[in-house]
Formats: sequence, structure tokens, C-alpha cells
Amino acid sequence: MPTILVINGPNLNLMGTREVEIYGTQTLDAINRELERLAESRGVHIEFFQSNHEGELIDRIQAARGRAGCIIINAGALTHYSIALHDALRAVELPVIEVHLSNPYAREDFRHRSLVSPVAVGGVFGLGSLSYRLAVEAACELLARMG
Ligand code: DQA
Repeated sequence: MPTILVINGPNLNLMGTREVEIYGTQTLDAINRELERLAESRGVHIEFFQSNHEGELIDRIQAARGRAGCIIINAGALTHYSIALHDALRAVELPVIEVHLSNPYAREDFRHRSLVSPVAVGGVFGLGSLSYRLAVEAACELLARMG
């Protein structure tokens, strides 16, 4: 069964309690349960990983090589400056879908640059938890095309 790996970076474990006017009231756990149901309905296996530590995220990305079919990632603030994360995503040669709850381009200048985008096939941002659901839909479609 094809596998989607959903990765969340720093502070996304605080979802539901952190700056709710920007990030919404849904917890990461609640979102993941929805994504699980969605993937199941499409016959796709889905795995989740969250860490506040750059190195742990890189280890998980490297471990996905040859095992996952697609990576969905919200790298949090690391999106904007982590060359190491960029390199890891490039190295594993898997389709990457970038996700953000908020619209980084409508926020501070330092959020306007993404080091994930250049290694992503596409992205969804600004739609709250719907960003993740649409990313899973897209990942299922990509996996089906890849056969
Ligand atoms: C975020 C946007 C980032 O700029 C921020 O640092 C986050 C969350 C989002 O999902 O909107 O932690 O990735």
C-alpha cells in the first residue's frame, strides 16, 4: 500500500492553543485523525511525525527514502531558513507537498522566503486545516499517477 508521510516542524504541536487567530483551534492530533480517515478512504497508508528539532526532522526524512511515496511537510519556521532541511528533502527524491496553515506571504517579510518550495512539487497554504486535507488529496492523486 502506498504511504504518505506527514511531517510537522517546530511549534506545530501547540496547534489549537497557539495564536488561535492565526492557526485555528484544531489540535494537530484532531487534524491527523481527519487525515487518517481521508487517506483510509483512498486506500492509502498515512504516517505522522512532529518534532521541534531540526535534526530529528532530517532523520525522519532520510528514513522515508524508498519507503514513503510522498512527503507532506509543514516545516514551521524552519521553512524560512533551514538549508539542512532543504537538502534532506532534495536528497530523498520523493514528491514533496508544502503546507502552511497561514498565508506566509501575507505576513512578516521574514516569512516570504521558503526553502521548502524549491524542492516541492506544489503547496497549499492559508486555508487552515483545509491546507492539510487538500495536500492529502493531492498526494493520493500523485501516488495513483505514479502507480
Ligand atoms: C507556518 C508558518 C510559519 O511562518 C510559522 O513559523 C509556523 C507555522 C504555518 O503553518 O502557517 O510555525 O508554517
